[in-house]
Amino acid sequence: MTIRNEDIEAIVKQVLINLKSSKQIKNEELGIFNDVNDAVNAAKESQRILRYMSIDQRERIINKIREKTIENAKLLAQMGVNETGMGRVDHKIIKHELVAKKTPGTEDIKTIAWSGDNGLTLVEMGPFGVIGAITPSTNPSETVICNSIGMIASGNTIVFNPHPGASKVSNYAVRLVNEASLEEGGPPNLAVSIDKPTIEMANILFKHPDISLLVATGGPGVVTACLSSGKRAIGAGAGNPPVVVDETADIKKAAKDIIDGATFDNNLPCIAEKEVIAVDEIADELIYYMIKNGAYKIEKDMVDKLTELVLEKKNGEYVISRNWVGRDAYKILKALGIDADESIRCIIFEANEEHPLVEEELMMPILGIVRASNVDDAIKIAIRLEHGNRHSAHMHSKNVDNLTRFGREIDTAIFVKNAPSYAALGFGGEGYCTFTIASRTGEGLTSAKTFTKIRRCVLADGFSIR
Ligand code: COA
Repeated sequence: MTIRNEDIEAIVKQVLINLKSSKQIKNEELGIFNDVNDAVNAAKESQRILRYMSIDQRERIINKIREKTIENAKLLAQMGVNETGMGRVDHKIIKHELVAKKTPGTEDIKTIAWSGDNGLTLVEMGPFGVIGAITPSTNPSETVICNSIGMIASGNTIVFNPHPGASKVSNYAVRLVNEASLEEGGPPNLAVSIDKPTIEMANILFKHPDISLLVATGGPGVVTACLSSGKRAIGAGAGNPPVVVDETADIKKAAKDIIDGATFDNNLPCIAEKEVIAVDEIADELIYYMIKNGAYKIEKDMVDKLTELVLEKKNGEYVISRNWVGRDAYKILKALGIDADESIRCIIFEANEEHPLVEEELMMPILGIVRASNVDDAIKIAIRLEHGNRHSAHMHSKNVDNLTRFGREIDTAIFVKNAPSYAALGFGGEGYCTFTIASRTGEGLTSAKTFTKIRRCVLADGFSIR
């Protein structure tokens, strides 16, 4: 293999970096740029170095990122809540630990081989190069760390354009990634970001010739813009996950699981239970146990006030009020004039399926409960309320036929049965963790292998030694 001059230059730079002590790390090596083009150039340069690093070296950097994330979990959690005003510090600590421990690294990259009379063929997963990544305000540093581990494991470097409302905490996470690389003898700027990101900068990234793959995790607007860019793009957007409870479920457990899932980080994860569809026969019992688990039930007049508080009308359509996304339930109740203490984790109410608080994805610890006459009716309502996002759905039932049917018919990337929704993130459930769930483009729960190009390498009539 011939090595190009530009690659030799990059390797020489890397050797020089290795000779420097960590005390000499300069700010510009930690990945934060004012200009998008400078950021892309830096990531392009570091990708040339990463390409020639061994898998073992990549894995050492990734382990360091994991270590630093755990060390900084509390700080990142506090920074996230302070900057965005959304979520809960205790739960954000868990999310960071989860990302650090359960995001797959290089072990996710597998080779397939066929050998036979005609020789040997390998299918390998190689990097795209430089990835442009859009990250949200709901799970900001969690997504930066999770994307960084997966994308670096697969040999890519990343240019982040974080949500403008969460740029400080996102960029702190980018710095940690680069510190980890430099401390393990890797290049600077494995992940880069913009000091003051804007949608205009994201648009430059969407068109930049040196960006080979785009990955957008965010609200519907920015994901649609990314998917319309003309480049290969992975889109992780909104859902409105319904949870169905039928008459065969363990109702006491279902109530606790639903409240636990719906209140995790105040309902910010896109997989969290957003509305309940309960078979009439068990609905009263379910509500009783939800109240026992920290839910506060409001009645019709208060539901009207809540609607006015947390939804706004724009061009005749309801949109959620940014002021209440991810806020504590007891604070929302206080704004309604109800004195509740911190033990109240969730607001519940009964409504019909057309109610705007049920139709809209609120991302608040608020759960509408819709009664269904039977499980068939419940499945039909749940499918309609998911709005075809095919993101996440959940069910509590002991009837395997009902579970199978709902799973098939709703056809979502995630389907959790008899557990809180966060089991899908590997928290109390098996499997790996990610905060980029690409339901719109079909990759599902993303990991290192999602960010690879498939390459076939054929040696005809050789290396088959059977
Ligand atoms: N970089 C640059 N601009 C961004 C951006 C990013 N990473 N993310 C969003 N923006 C832009 C939007 O395009 C929008 O621009 P516009 O006003 O010109 O339309 C603006 O910033 C505000 O974005 P948005 O996030 O939609 O509005 P908001 O800040 O008022 O809303 C939320 C906050 C939480 C309601 C919203 O971000 C959301 O729905 N997030 C869900 C994220 C999520 O969890 N996705 C699924 C993960 S699998």
